[in-house]
Amino acid sequence: IPVECFDLVVFGATGDLARRKILPGLFRRWKEGQIPEGSAIVGAARSSFTRDDFRTLVQEALTEFLPETELDPAVVASFLDLLDYVTIDARGTAGWEDLAAKMRPDVVRAFYFSVAPALFGDLAQRLHERGIAHRQSRIVVEKPFGNDLTSARALNQILAEFFKEDQIYRIDHYLGKETVQNLMAVRFANILFEPLWNSQFVDHVQITVAETVGVGGRGEYYDKSGAMRDMVQNHMMQLLCLIAMEPPHCFEPDAMRDEKLKVIRALDPVTPAEIVRGQYKGKGGDDYLTECGDPASRTESFIALKLHVSNWRWKGTPFYLRTGKRLKSRASEIAVSFKEPPHSIFGESNQWRENVLVIRLQPDEGMDLRVMIKEPGPGGMRLKDVALDMSFAEALGSDLDIPDAYERLIMDVIRGNQTLFMRGDEVEAAWAWVDPVIAAWEKHGDQPEPYEPGSTGPEGALMLMHKDGRRWREIR
Ligand code: BG6
Repeated sequence: IPVECFDLVVFGATGDLARRKILPGLFRRWKEGQIPEGSAIVGAARSSFTRDDFRTLVQEALTEFLPETELDPAVVASFLDLLDYVTIDARGTAGWEDLAAKMRPDVVRAFYFSVAPALFGDLAQRLHERGIAHRQSRIVVEKPFGNDLTSARALNQILAEFFKEDQIYRIDHYLGKETVQNLMAVRFANILFEPLWNSQFVDHVQITVAETVGVGGRGEYYDKSGAMRDMVQNHMMQLLCLIAMEPPHCFEPDAMRDEKLKVIRALDPVTPAEIVRGQYKGKGGDDYLTECGDPASRTESFIALKLHVSNWRWKGTPFYLRTGKRLKSRASEIAVSFKEPPHSIFGESNQWRENVLVIRLQPDEGMDLRVMIKEPGPGGMRLKDVALDMSFAEALGSDLDIPDAYERLIMDVIRGNQTLFMRGDEVEAAWAWVDPVIAAWEKHGDQPEPYEPGSTGPEGALMLMHKDGRRWREIR
C-alpha cells in the first residue's frame, strides 16, 4: 500500500534507538522505494548539531547497523538529503519555532517520541500549543509505557489532553515482526487449525522468548524493570493475545484490539506457585548482580509463568510463558501441543507423541508441525513422529528479505493504520494484571533463583512443567 508524502520528526534522534532501528529502518524503506520523494525526516534532540552533523551521525549509524552490501553510496546520499535537524529543548522554548517553520502544509505529519516517557507530556503539550501538530498528525510513543498501572494511566491521560486516541501509536515492536503477524495468517487464513484451537483439543501452549544477551550496559534501566515488566507485560502478552483471541470480524484496528483486550481481561491472577523467577549468576563479570551494579538486587532476568485464560475457549488449557537473558541460545517460538487421540487402534506398544504446531518467531523463521506416521519397513505398524518443517527462507526463497519490525511499523504510522499498535486500554489492562503479581513477590521478599549463564534457566522452571507432567521444548 503506497504511503503519502510526509514530514516525520524524530525526537531523540541522536539516541540509541534512533541510530540502531528508526533511521536504518527508514533508510531501508527509502531504498525499497516506499518513501515518496519530497518526504522529510527531521531529527530533533538536545545536542546542538548542524544539519550536516546530523547527516554524518546518520551515515555512521547506517554503516554500523546495516551490512555494507545494502549501502549503495548513491542511495545513501539521496537518503541523507531527506534529513534535517533542529536543536530542541523538550521542556523549554528553544527550537520550537524552528521546528514549526520546517513543517509543510498538506503532507502527513508524524512525531516519533524516541525519548524517556517523562518527556512525553512536555513534547505533546508543545506540539499542540504551538500548532505544530494538527488533528491529522500522529504521535508515536515507545516503551516502556509506564512502570505500573498508575504511571501508564498518567501517561495516557497526559497524551489524551492533546491528542485523540486515533492519533496515538504505542509501539510494541513484536507486533511489527513478520512472523508475529504470521500468527494471524496461520490462524485466520486457514481452516485447518481453528476448529481445534480450544481446550477440547489443545493440551497446552508454550511461549518462549530466549535471549543470549545479558543486560550489559542497560543494567541500570533493566534493574528497575526485570523480565516481567520488560518482556511479559508487553511483548509476551501480545503473543499470548494473538494466540488466544477470538477471530476479529476484520483486520482493522479496533476489531483486533477489542479481541486482544478480552484475552488480557480473561487472565486469572497467577499464584506464587505458578511463577519462577531467576537471575543469571556466572563467574567473573558474567553475572547479573555485577552488571546491574546492585549486589542486593532481587530483579529477575528470567521468568517462567503458568497462565490461565478463563473463558469458554480456553478453560483448562494452561499457557506456559518463559523468557530470559543469558540463556543457551536465541530462540523465540510458540508451541501449541494438541491432546492425545481419544483411542489408539495401534496398541500399547506404539508410544503416542503429541501433535505440536511450532511457530518459530526468530531466528530461522518458520513453522513446524509434528505428526505421527508409520515408520517405513516390514516390521509391522510401528509409529513415529516426524516434523513437517517449513522455513520461510526455504519456502519463499533464500534471498527473502524479512524487514525489521520498525520498518513495517513506521510505514503503518504514515499510512494511518493502527492495527499493529496498542490501544491505551490494552496497555492499562496488561498493567492491571501484572501489578498484583509483582506486588505479591515484593511483599514476600521473593529471591530469584540463580541460573548459569548459557543454560536453559533455573531448575524451578523445569519443575513448573514437571509437576504438571509436561516439559519445556528444548531451546535449540
Ligand atoms: C526489548 C527489551 O523491548 O526487547 C529488551 O527491552 C529485549 O530487553 C528486546 O532484549 C528483545 O527484542 P528482540 O526484537 O531482539 O527479540
